[in-house]
Amino acid sequence: MTGSSLPTVRTVSALRGQVRAWRRAGERVALTPTMGFLHEGHLSLVRLGRTRAERVVASLFVNPTQFAPSEDFEAYPRDEARDADLLASAGCDLLYAPTVGEMYPAGFSTTVTVAGVSAPMDGVARPTHFAGVATVVAKLLGQCQPDVAIFGEKDFQQLMVIRRLVADLDLAVEIVGAPTVREPDGLALSSRNSYLTQGERAVAPALNAALRTAAEALRGGAAVADVEGAGMGAIRAAGFGPIDYFEVRAADDLRRLGPGAVDAPARIFAAARLGKARLIDNVAV
Ligand code: PAF
Repeated sequence: MTGSSLPTVRTVSALRGQVRAWRRAGERVALTPTMGFLHEGHLSLVRLGRTRAERVVASLFVNPTQFAPSEDFEAYPRDEARDADLLASAGCDLLYAPTVGEMYPAGFSTTVTVAGVSAPMDGVARPTHFAGVATVVAKLLGQCQPDVAIFGEKDFQQLMVIRRLVADLDLAVEIVGAPTVREPDGLALSSRNSYLTQGERAVAPALNAALRTAAEALRGGAAVADVEGAGMGAIRAAGFGPIDYFEVRAADDLRRLGPGAVDAPARIFAAARLGKARLIDNVAV
């Protein structure tokens, strides 16, 4: 247990026992998977979960398999006691915080890969990332067996990977996407914003500003190729770099759109480094 009043379980059997008891009482269960170091964005997922189910479970697991060896798994910010307090205040009923050994016991040998939507953008920049995400999300859904699971649209490509996974594996869970929560200056909330220095924090909203400018230009009939070039230029000039991508893609399957004016519902995606942080964001056109 943590210092907060939020009940916490660390094993699959304890999680299942509680979920079964709620089910027997006729209650629906929502799951909000997280990697902790929570912010208002995560809490909005919990609140949305409460509107969809009588009970909300939050998982907290910094999943090693979705980090490449060169990435920030060790440095990833962690504060379980604070997270538990925040979750309790948002109306969460149960924290599931398994150990790495509980999630990946000796002999664990399965990887879930989702072709297609995993391939572009973060699939290029972080080639092993989505297999790690898909595997742990498949496990979390199997462990908790929620009626509904909530994921943020800030990681829009991840949300599409999870929707594909659930459809392809016939998992009996409804996947709900939640709108990105932002600072007043437009910066998308992210646990990794804690890596930003004061100077970088002042620069960071330029990513969302460039995406909004690009969306406006596309709505006005500008060509995709021009808008992508201008967006890259804007964030580079603001101080971002290296830039992984600034791309316009189809909102339904992430396919590349032609270089001219958009002719299908689209979304613009960007990922770029700012100091030690890698920031990602996306907006609808
Ligand atoms: O979005 C995240 O925080 C993680 O990728 C998730 C979905 C909890 C899986 O580890």
